[in-house]
Amino acid sequence: MTTYFSYPTPELQAELKRTAEAIVAPGKGILAVDEANDGIGKLLAAVGLDNTENNRRRYRQLLFTSDKSLSDHVSAVILFDETVYQKTDDGQSFIEVLQKKNIIPGIKVDRDVVPLFLSEDEVTTQGLDDLAARCAEYKKQGCRFAKWRCPLKIGSHTPSVQAINDTAQVLARYASICQSQGLVPIVEPDVLLEGDHDIVRTQKVTEVALAAVYKALNDHHVFLEGTLLKPNMVTPGQGYKPKSTPEEIAVATVTALLRGVPAAVPGIAFLSGGQSEEEATLNLNAINKVQLKKPWTLTFSYGRALQASVWKTWAGKDENVKKAQAELLKRAKANGLASLGKYEAGLLASAAGDSSNFSTNHKY
Ligand code: 13P
Repeated sequence: MTTYFSYPTPELQAELKRTAEAIVAPGKGILAVDEANDGIGKLLAAVGLDNTENNRRRYRQLLFTSDKSLSDHVSAVILFDETVYQKTDDGQSFIEVLQKKNIIPGIKVDRDVVPLFLSEDEVTTQGLDDLAARCAEYKKQGCRFAKWRCPLKIGSHTPSVQAINDTAQVLARYASICQSQGLVPIVEPDVLLEGDHDIVRTQKVTEVALAAVYKALNDHHVFLEGTLLKPNMVTPGQGYKPKSTPEEIAVATVTALLRGVPAAVPGIAFLSGGQSEEEATLNLNAINKVQLKKPWTLTFSYGRALQASVWKTWAGKDENVKKAQAELLKRAKANGLASLGKYEAGLLASAAGDSSNFSTNHKY
């Protein structure tokens, strides 16, 4: 096997590393609002609104125009393509609004999943073909990082070797293309919460998936200091009883990460995957308190677990905007504290705190 390769230029390495480290600065995490149009459409329908460009814009305006203290706990926001070009009512681009708050804009670049032929209901993620050109355009618009998600489903015969290898290769190609265009890739192998399996099975599947992903990233010469990982936490399947405690989840999660994620990776920002807001916060807190080695920053990159109370409180009505923004600030603060292991159960009660956010085949 040839060992010939090049490193990125020192300038590119420095830029990628700086961005990755800023995203996982102590006490901060990521607000993921990259739902594609059909995903946000369901949320809009639930508050009685049509899935129009303007309604999607109104909702995201609510988030981005929250008080600037949002940036005390939110370092970065993941956008969807349309959102990159949208503006507030008074004509400021969303990207500028975020930059003025010292929040780093990023972009979801995957184009969702399609079936893996002859697999047991498994999928592959699309979007590689024109990715370099799209990354270059997003960089020009002010984005500094990207996100790409590959879901893996646990079943009696899944994830298959085919799906795991495909996930690893696709994530590695994506990461290398992002870095070539100066964007930090957030690598997201998502072992889904769906299923009746126990926590041991999730741990083993997560370990196998992470080992494959980092082998592929290394094979593609990805500069790990300029990447971030966005994994699932290791929990039992949604249908498994009894539930695990946050402490059990913390031990299983950090153990799996220690076995699969190189210490060169600066940070790990978990997805919430259908956990309730309070669960996602308590689990992150326990992960940061657990007495195991932790060579990376461990924080949040939540979609549903930062927005459920916002949707509930907003309910599609302008007069509720301020109250809904207060809910966002509360969850951001709760998770910021959890990323330092300083949260306590019930410390910041939220409108949708304990409600499950789980749904099968959830659309991002
Ligand atoms: P959830 O936290 O809702 O699982 O979203 C994660 C995600 O990948 C969105 O970018």
